[in-house]
Amino acid sequence: MSTKVVIGAQWGDEGKGKATDKLAETADYVVRFSGGNNAGHTVIVQNEKYELHLIPSGIIYEDKKNVIGNGTVIDPTALIAEIEGLKERGHTFNNFYISEQAHVVMPYHKLFDGLEEKRKGDSKIGTTKKGIGPAYTDKVARRGIRFCDLIEEGIFKKKLKDILEYKNLILEKVYEQPGFSYQEILDQYLELAEEIKPYITDTSLLLDQAYQKGENIFFEGAQGTLLDIDYGTYPYVTSSNPTSGGVCIGTGFGPTKIDDIIGVAKAYLTRVGKGPFPTELFDEAGQFLLKKGHEFGVTTGRPRRCGWLDLPLLKYAVRVNGLTELVLTKIDVLSGLDEIKVCTSYGNDLHTTSPSGLLDNSTIVYESFPGWQKNISKIKQFNELPKEARDYINMIEDEINLPITVIGTGPAREDVIIRK
Ligand code: GDP
Ligand code: IMO
Ligand code: MG
Repeated sequence: MSTKVVIGAQWGDEGKGKATDKLAETADYVVRFSGGNNAGHTVIVQNEKYELHLIPSGIIYEDKKNVIGNGTVIDPTALIAEIEGLKERGHTFNNFYISEQAHVVMPYHKLFDGLEEKRKGDSKIGTTKKGIGPAYTDKVARRGIRFCDLIEEGIFKKKLKDILEYKNLILEKVYEQPGFSYQEILDQYLELAEEIKPYITDTSLLLDQAYQKGENIFFEGAQGTLLDIDYGTYPYVTSSNPTSGGVCIGTGFGPTKIDDIIGVAKAYLTRVGKGPFPTELFDEAGQFLLKKGHEFGVTTGRPRRCGWLDLPLLKYAVRVNGLTELVLTKIDVLSGLDEIKVCTSYGNDLHTTSPSGLLDNSTIVYESFPGWQKNISKIKQFNELPKEARDYINMIEDEINLPITVIGTGPAREDVIIRK
């Protein structure tokens, strides 16, 4: 029996989907605990590419049970579209469960997400515009609609009426936009509710029963540590807790039952959307990483900003998540560079303790490492990597004081070096 967690140790897109696919091989359950369809997780199996947003990556295996926990926010339209797409590819949803306490992303959430970004102009966050922030805002403001509300027609009707009155007031008076039609949303969401109803259950209980039976449970993180609402580069963050504490809050699974918290980090660094990024590159090396790493967002298609690995921020992720090991992805992307730089400190304490202030690059200290030219994408043994690559990986391991147990050498399931 084992209970493992995969957590993004940077600004998202570290390769959590692929890491989950690989490391959850023996899992009985794969569980999402935070975020919504702002996430985009890529898994490539036998030349088949999957881009998952809400559905846990375990769906690609025939036999796993997949769970979306209460800490998520779910757009029912996007969920149904994703389920249909996967069904067409032969995947079944007989063992698929959604928490009755997960919150529903409503049409007004998506609209408000876009309107707020527009109103903010230059100071916008650069959100995915999927309604994630507004849905979590309503959850905390105690005017959210949960799946247990959605599937009870009487309750849903009453809640929607109350909430829509308020939303329409804001739309009309603040944004000078026409309000939503109650009847249209009601009709659309009652139909969606019927489709989703079979999946709704008490997932905290389900996971506890699985645990008691000795089954293997794997929690698949979304986003990343530096996008965490508490621990990230606020306000340029998402509106949930993708850090390891979020597992317990987002699933109702107790912390004492978790064995292993696996961080995932790229061998360099990327970020989509706005916000501080001290090691960001604006030169040829940045272009190299963007092109060679195919750094385009899975959810929005936006090019990702690229930069050098930032060790103080990675150490911070190790600390706030209590990571027990690290998966280092995309080391193959660095092949072909003459020189690889790494931020080793900020020259002052401020940013090495927490990135909660506005990070800047004024005092940044880089160390330079020699690159390697050899294509390493087919290598399966650590000691077959070029010496420069081994030195680079060993250096990271020493700095973060954690074992790097898996090294990604390409996008496909088999493109890994397992070091355990
Ligand atoms: P996630 O959101 O953390 O699941 O990551 P994304 O799927 O958004 O982005 C990671 C991208 O890198 C995807 O295109 C993956 O197919 C790809 N990828 C993952 N691991 C590796 C690796 O080790 N090498 C290379 N070249 N690509 C990788
Ligand atoms: P995965 O799970 C990368 C970023 C957005 C934006 C900020 C807030 O694929 O790693 P939101 O729509 O959440 O309110 O946007 O967070 N963001 C992500 N960046 N990967 C993700 O998910 C992200 N989910 C949100 O780009 O900067
Ligand atoms: Mg992603």
